[in-house]
Amino acid sequence: MSPDRQSLEPAAAIDAADPLAGFRDEFVHADDEPDLIYLDGNSLGRQSLRSAAAVVEALEVQWGRRLIRGWNEGWFELPRRVGDQIADLVGASPGEVVLADSTSVSLYKAALAALGARPGRTRILTDDLNFPSDVQVLRAVAAAAGPDHEVVVVGSDGVHGPIDAIRAELEADGGDRVALVSLSHVAYRSGWRWDLAEVTALSHGHGALMLWDLCHSVGAVPIDLTAAEADLAVGCTYKYMNGGPGSPAFLYASARLPELVNPVAGWYGSEDPMGFDFDAGRALGVDRFLTGTPPILSTVPVGPAVDLLLEAGMDRLHAKSVALTERFIALVDQWLVPLGFEVWTPRDPTQRGSHVSLRHPEARAVGQALIHEESVIPDFRPPNLLRFGFAPLYVRHTDVDEAVARTVRVVNGGGIDRWRDVAPVVP
Ligand SMILES: Cc1ncc(COP(=O)(O)O)c(C=O)c1O
Repeated sequence: MSPDRQSLEPAAAIDAADPLAGFRDEFVHADDEPDLIYLDGNSLGRQSLRSAAAVVEALEVQWGRRLIRGWNEGWFELPRRVGDQIADLVGASPGEVVLADSTSVSLYKAALAALGARPGRTRILTDDLNFPSDVQVLRAVAAAAGPDHEVVVVGSDGVHGPIDAIRAELEADGGDRVALVSLSHVAYRSGWRWDLAEVTALSHGHGALMLWDLCHSVGAVPIDLTAAEADLAVGCTYKYMNGGPGSPAFLYASARLPELVNPVAGWYGSEDPMGFDFDAGRALGVDRFLTGTPPILSTVPVGPAVDLLLEAGMDRLHAKSVALTERFIALVDQWLVPLGFEVWTPRDPTQRGSHVSLRHPEARAVGQALIHEESVIPDFRPPNLLRFGFAPLYVRHTDVDEAVARTVRVVNGGGIDRWRDVAPVVP
């Protein structure tokens, strides 16, 4: 028999026993929207009280009163200091992670650095589950590397990572053409999660370097870059890390690979940024991947937000993520599949991140109706996917039940017809 709300343990009881429940109070919840169910923390995480306080302090005291002295009072070291916190979260060592540019720019630097370390190899390998910006960046990297370079995008079934096709491309043409494999650890559409260590080992076995995009996994699933022998990784800090809109991305470069050169040199990546020397050498460690002045105001909220994840612990967060997503999928099977929805995310929790995608021909209209009529915020990815993100720091089991119930209400209550023609700029 399919599970239903009766056969599942009551959500309120699970929430009452949840050891992470108190973390929800660390976040801002608007008084005038008490019924809001926010399931888009996989796009933009909630604002934590600690981050908000840190931003106010940075504005009023650091910038407002201390002015340029701020650079000697913590700003200069900030990208590395937060980088070291993130290193803790992703199984890296201090000095291997730095916070700086957007994910796209960080990816560009990391990918071009990797090509420089694999002369004679001309291919970058990725898959069609990857984020469009990543593929656009990788193509720009190939163009910058030379006319003989190319990006090979292997096809998938739309849900699962195409491991056999990746292996076949690595082995193709003598097995020595691929310089770099670059994949999203968790795919933004289906939520598929690669095995970091397995794919990294596969790439290394064919002489290629491995570059991971951790945007949709960091803060949601345990990551151990050291154990996986990862070479390079990038990730944004505004999704499950709750760093705020447009907060800077992080870049990880393994200390095993000091030969990797940042292709976008600049004073902050030099050995002596304040030496004002045309001929300054490159910084040692991951600092060499910095370029210009770090965005201090948007870096400030990240540190306190990472502290929350570290305090909660990634193993506990992941266990809760699995419980939330399992419950959601069970309820979708019971209530939404009969209404024309299809689960577009792997059912094996070891193969997914913390969001679940549902395919439906009217996904955009359902999403708009949920937002405007039912105070549920998922997001929409064209042409037909609704994504529900379960950020374990602040989403409750009762939210899962309510979100499904409200989706049923939208569909049965004519919401699709009312919202079919609405297409917001950011879906
Ligand atoms: C998986 C993934 N990679 C890359 C990006 C691009 O990040 P940015 O806009 O910070 O460059 C995103 C943005 O959502 C993403 O989800």
